[in-house]
Amino acid sequence: MNFKDYIRVIPDFPQPGIRFKDITTLLQNGDVYKEAIEQLKALVKDKEIDVIAGPEARGFVIGAPLAIALGVGFVPIRKSGKLPGETIKADYALEYGKDKLAMHSDAIKPGQKVLIADDLLATGGTIKTSVDLVKQLGGEVIGAAFLIELTYLDGRNKFEGIDVVSLVQY
Ligand code: PRP
Repeated sequence: MNFKDYIRVIPDFPQPGIRFKDITTLLQNGDVYKEAIEQLKALVKDKEIDVIAGPEARGFVIGAPLAIALGVGFVPIRKSGKLPGETIKADYALEYGKDKLAMHSDAIKPGQKVLIADDLLATGGTIKTSVDLVKQLGGEVIGAAFLIELTYLDGRNKFEGIDVVSLVQY
């Protein structure tokens, strides 16, 4: 399956010069969405995974179904101010803009093996911050899985020792 046929590229969104990869056109096709999750599952099936962590919002639509497919739990990584319990926070800069990410302090138990999942790897800022949050809680990041990777931004080289997999590359 050529997933690129289902990903809509929108120029100059959210700002001039960014070619936004819109996955809503893939998600709205149930068969293609399911196949994408199945193929991501196949890429990580040999890993020992206790839990998947995914950053909002698009990390949820990849991470949560992947967690169900693998039979493991899902931990949301949210923008600051959204989680109701005690949280840990970390700053991050992304391809466009800056923010803080947060995770519940009790979301990961020390020693748990965590796969981070998201729709897109661009600069790697979001995932680098997600890795930092998991590590703060004593979790072990055993890999990162993406639907899309923008290889020209070289995000994967931000993570030494973390196996990065992606289904579609631009
Ligand atoms: C996008 C995307 C990734 C991140 C990738 O999320 O879903 O999480 O940017 O960029 P990076 O590798 O340069 O960090 P965004 O922050 O736009 O939030 P959203 O999913 O809520 O739209």
